[in-house]
Amino acid sequence: MPIREATPDDWPRIWPFWHRIVAAADTYTWDPDTPEEAARALWMAPDKRVYVAEDPPGQVVGSAYLTPNYGGPASRVANAGFMVDPDHGGRGIGRALAEHVLAEATAHGYRAMVFNAVVETNPAVGLWTSLGFTVLGTVPEAFEHPRHGWVGLHIMYRALGRPGD
Ligand SMILES: CC(C)(COP(=O)(O)OP(=O)(O)OC[C@H]1O[C@@H](n2cnc3c(N)ncnc32)[C@H](O)[C@@H]1OP(=O)(O)O)[C@@H](O)C(=O)NCCC(=O)NCCS
Repeated sequence: MPIREATPDDWPRIWPFWHRIVAAADTYTWDPDTPEEAARALWMAPDKRVYVAEDPPGQVVGSAYLTPNYGGPASRVANAGFMVDPDHGGRGIGRALAEHVLAEATAHGYRAMVFNAVVETNPAVGLWTSLGFTVLGTVPEAFEHPRHGWVGLHIMYRALGRPGD
């Protein structure tokens, strides 16, 4: 499946599933009512490398970003975010995006990747664990899930670019 760096022209194809996922309020800590321009500023920020997955070629079905998680002397720890159009979920697109972004992060000199707020009920936790992430800790009852009530937010971590990664 083609995965490439996004261009500004890709945003109108990312926005429909971005909006649907954030409005569902069960995975991301962004305001479910985030308007489009604010969403674009969050996802396509200048300090982010943004990627899109196309399946078939020409149809954007998923997107990811890669960015430093901290600044200054800690700027070689990466953060990343992932979204796959729910109409195309469960077909391996998320895993392919994640493997691509992990390789990109390594290629760009990051030494580790951290996810700051993974909702503990998100099935993606299993995906991240299968890719070598561990839960460093959990902020208890931090996220008001629309169906599960107050649930925790995991901080997840994986080393990069070391032998065997
Ligand atoms: C998380 C997400 C990117 C996964 O994308 P996807 O294309 O559906 O995932 P894949 O088809 O590659 O599945 C990857 C694995 O995770 C599991 N998985 C991921 N999301 C799942 C879900 N919603 N329900 C059940 N299993 C899920 C699958 O079982 C699969 O395991 P396998 O590869 O061993 O078969 C996508 O569900 C999504 O955009 N979710 C909303 C936003 C989000 O939660 N982003 C991550 C925030 S931490």
